[in-house]
Amino acid sequence: MTRILAVTNQKGGVGKTTTAVNLAAALAANDVNVLLIDCDSQGNATSGVGIQKTEGMHTLYDVLIDGKDLTNAIQHTEMEGLDILPADKNLIGVNLELTNAADRESVLRQRLHGLRGKYHFIIIDCPPALDLLTLNALMAADAVLVPIQCEFFALEGISSLMDTIDRVRESFGHPLQIEGILLTMYDERTNLARQVAADLREFFQNEVLRTVIPRNIRLAEAPSHGKPILLYDPGSKGSEAYIQLAKEILTHEQTRSAQSAR
Ligand SMILES: Nc1ncnc2c1ncn2[C@@H]1O[C@H](COP(=O)(O)OP(=O)(O)OP(=O)(O)O)[C@@H](O)[C@H]1O
Ligand SMILES: [Mg+2]
Repeated sequence: MTRILAVTNQKGGVGKTTTAVNLAAALAANDVNVLLIDCDSQGNATSGVGIQKTEGMHTLYDVLIDGKDLTNAIQHTEMEGLDILPADKNLIGVNLELTNAADRESVLRQRLHGLRGKYHFIIIDCPPALDLLTLNALMAADAVLVPIQCEFFALEGISSLMDTIDRVRESFGHPLQIEGILLTMYDERTNLARQVAADLREFFQNEVLRTVIPRNIRLAEAPSHGKPILLYDPGSKGSEAYIQLAKEILTHEQTRSAQSAR
């Protein structure tokens, strides 16, 4: 069974791409096949795993708009077990070009159909917008992972995201789950971060994941080297945190299968 997670929050710069790339790599380190899908025209997840745009390279845009074969667009990365479906700036056009398509919010979901079973996890890095691309990611996903930065205005926009999740469930009848809320860029030395983290736990209760991602300079450096943190600095605090997050996500899976066996 493939588990598809959309890493989403329409607020910019909260750690979506850092989480998508490094969680995908940390899951792959557990000997499971993982596909990372870059669903953002900024292409940060693509460059973050060391993929450069080359002549004739197929991207998510070609798959969504031109119906190009997924398998020609997917590339291996330096990290064993981790593949990527890359994106570039063309992807922004999808929002307009799909506007009049039938089932325009389910195109990604349809395209991924043939991949179910090939990968254990598919991780989708969403753009900082509640646009048609994000809607496609939510419709393709089994669950959402929502990174929230531990700072003032952490909850800004969260109600619109929750409304969108409700819409996906109710209007489209898609049983989208919440994998968890992930506290990111946590700086334990500041009272503000501690207070924001406490407030978020009170607000979201046990939807907040136990793993907290610390602010760690090595995480910010890794993308410019085109490497996930596990390859760039495996001993860093940032690397440890994403390994822990992968364990927590794998534990969720064990809990779900134990429940369904009952
Ligand atoms: N835990 C962390 N510690 C230090 N820096 C971090 C951490 N997480 C992310 N960053 C840095 O913060 C910036 C924003 O992170 P990232 O790109 O992951 O956010 P995003 O939500 O994907 O942004 P966007 O909304 O633009 O897609 C980046 O420069 C990244 O390297
Ligand atoms: Mg991003």
